[in-house]
Amino acid sequence: MHPPRTILTVGACLALAEASPLLRRALDPQALASEYFGNDSPWYQDRIPYFECSDSEIQDVYYYRWKIFRAHQRDLGQRGYISTEFLDDVGWQLEPWASLNDATGFHIGEGRWLRDRRFSDDYINHMFNGGNDRHFTDYMADSTWTRYLVDGDESTMTRHLDAMITLYDEWNDKLDKSGLYWIEPLADATEYTISSIDASGGQDGFGGGEAFRPSINSYMWANFRAIANIANLTGRSDVSSSYVDRAAELKQLFQDNIWNDTLGHFIDRHYTSNEFVQYWEPIRGRELVGLVPWMFSMPDDDPKYSSAWSHLLDSDKLSGSSGMRTVEPSYEYYMRQYRYDAATGLRECQWNGPVWPYQTTQALLGLANLLDTYNQTFISKTDYLNELRRYTKLHYNNGKLDLEEDYEPDKPGPIVGLPRSHHYFHSGYNDLIISGLVGIRPQADDTLVVNPMLPADSDISYFRLQDVAYHGHTLAVQWDADGSHYGQGAGLKVYVDGDEAASAAGLERVTASVSRASATTIDRSRIAKSVQLVRGQYPIGSASTGNETENVHDAIDGRVWFFPELPNGWNSNATEEDSQQWYAIDFGADTSLTSAELAFFADDGDFALPKDYTVLSWDNGEWKKIVGEGDQPVANGITNVKWADLSTSKLMLQFTQLAGKRTRLAEFKAF
Ligand SMILES: *[C@@H]1O[C@H](CO)[C@@H](O)[C@H](O)[C@H]1NC(C)=O
Ligand SMILES: *[C@@H]1O[C@H](CO)[C@@H](O)[C@H](O)[C@H]1NC(C)=O
Ligand SMILES: *[C@@H]1O[C@H](CO)[C@@H](O)[C@H](O)[C@H]1NC(C)=O
Ligand SMILES: *[C@@H]1O[C@H](CO)[C@@H](O)[C@H](O)[C@H]1NC(C)=O
Ligand SMILES: *[C@@H]1O[C@H](CO)[C@@H](O)[C@H](O)[C@H]1NC(C)=O
Repeated sequence: MHPPRTILTVGACLALAEASPLLRRALDPQALASEYFGNDSPWYQDRIPYFECSDSEIQDVYYYRWKIFRAHQRDLGQRGYISTEFLDDVGWQLEPWASLNDATGFHIGEGRWLRDRRFSDDYINHMFNGGNDRHFTDYMADSTWTRYLVDGDESTMTRHLDAMITLYDEWNDKLDKSGLYWIEPLADATEYTISSIDASGGQDGFGGGEAFRPSINSYMWANFRAIANIANLTGRSDVSSSYVDRAAELKQLFQDNIWNDTLGHFIDRHYTSNEFVQYWEPIRGRELVGLVPWMFSMPDDDPKYSSAWSHLLDSDKLSGSSGMRTVEPSYEYYMRQYRYDAATGLRECQWNGPVWPYQTTQALLGLANLLDTYNQTFISKTDYLNELRRYTKLHYNNGKLDLEEDYEPDKPGPIVGLPRSHHYFHSGYNDLIISGLVGIRPQADDTLVVNPMLPADSDISYFRLQDVAYHGHTLAVQWDADGSHYGQGAGLKVYVDGDEAASAAGLERVTASVSRASATTIDRSRIAKSVQLVRGQYPIGSASTGNETENVHDAIDGRVWFFPELPNGWNSNATEEDSQQWYAIDFGADTSLTSAELAFFADDGDFALPKDYTVLSWDNGEWKKIVGEGDQPVANGITNVKWADLSTSKLMLQFTQLAGKRTRLAEFKAF
């Protein structure tokens, strides 16, 4: 007798496929997400690729970096999500979004690996629709291209082609008669560097010191090349070939003029002429920025240029004991401190020596390119792993994961760890793990290349990365030195949709062909209507206690994080007895709403979860309890509430606060 035939819906089929052992999901996403993210794990669960590694520090920092990514997603409501550089507001951000365009390349570099493509896509849309004010130099066209190399989705990239052309033409205001671009180091996010300090006669160097720098010239080269590639895809071959030419010309000028034979390094030439420095004079020392061109595989594969990487291994040069120095110790003003934070008196950012996660990331991206495709013997995968490990260690601050702004090159610890600096997102890391250590080298054609940046004799006995979306497929890459960890045989294995697509006995570069499938659709069905971008404008918050403007704004500022070091949200005042407290949002007009997300923070100190809560709507001149479904209140995660569609001008969260405790509502979102 046959059992009755079950008719499955498409959704049910997918669920079955996911449970199938064929997919070899050796790691348990749910267990890893709850181990690393606790009550906030639902945010991560179906979004991040999962990673395991015999080096537990690397594994721990990998998950910590997704926490940084999540914490820096600012929801702008209708405009979508952007990535912020500082967790909270700083004076030089672009209002009212709080965006800054210098770390955008890292933000997209990390975000391109998320299975949920909304975050990188919204952010790219934001940046090409007025969010990029050219406050800093950037390589966003290139980042958009390299995101496409992962998801294979043309339309979300090609729609920005005209905006890219316009944006990078505006940089002609920094194009010199020599054909090279110049920039004030500050606008390169690199204040107090050799060119700016020397242009001040050693007196300062925060501003000024305009120079022809390796950074801006390689960024522009990468942007031109990306525009050429994108134009080619859309069939605009005239645009494509003109950008191929512009890139070739810039590269030639760059190699001819920025390469310095005496120092064997790409170094700035001064643009400024004054009593201290002269136009076209080379600066007088090596800087880490001289390795940035490899981040885009720009320099020719010529040992003359590749030899510059030997400076990264020399402890008299760019190799500090705790990481990569930004400037060499031979420089007269190496590590001289010029600037202090006005509020705290503590040291401020300078790039005349300190280890900088920003440029460390750039150098490691460049090193992986060099090791992947260049023919050279100056530096090896052993060095890659050593540098990655040094960088990994920087993330620990007295044993706790907390990445700050910059670091001592020759002793442990941060230099700039100001109140604003905690969990700073001005660098990448997971992109280094995925495209470097694990070695997924995304391609424009229908291939997959995996080249782990690990030496044959490495002490990394196993790793596995899975749930990586690539060209519409799901990848897993696994290394098991002796086959004992995963029980699926020794060596390197690459799986596409659960099927073995490539393998090697050792840590080698392997290639597989991968057909092109559609990337997952981006779900924008939930748009927050509660986010206040401009203080004083709707939506407007109010609260029972702790009603100072800034405190109230913080619960509807579109930011969700639960790090205790940098408080986020509205904080109520404590009361002696249990008390009823409330937080309300006035939308300024009738608004259709179906759900809310409450982000409560709690710790072992002042802040506790409320005993209970109710959501009310403003209905004909009075508050009425909304009938719906709500989760039990959750600490340091999202408490979901939903109801049948209703239209109201105001929403209120009412709750019972425990005696002697305060309540922190990190965010109150309404959809
Ligand atoms: C443009 O695309 C064609 C094939 O589609 C390719 O042969 C050519 O190299 C591409 N040009 C550039 C600049 O990428
Ligand atoms: C390289 O830079 C140094 C330091 O500024 C300078 O003395 C030297 O002349 C430069 N070498 C060349 C070949 O331009
Ligand atoms: C790599 O470089 C070496 C030394 O410069 C040279 O002898 C060799 O032919 C090169 N190999 C390739 C594949 O270009
Ligand atoms: C609430 O606490 C703030 C300080 O956090 C204080 O300034 C304010 O007066 C308090 N308000 C009430 C009603 O206790
Ligand atoms: C805060 O609440 C107090 C007491 O209700 C009120 O007098 C004050 O105007 C409120 N402040 C703000 C900024 O709303």
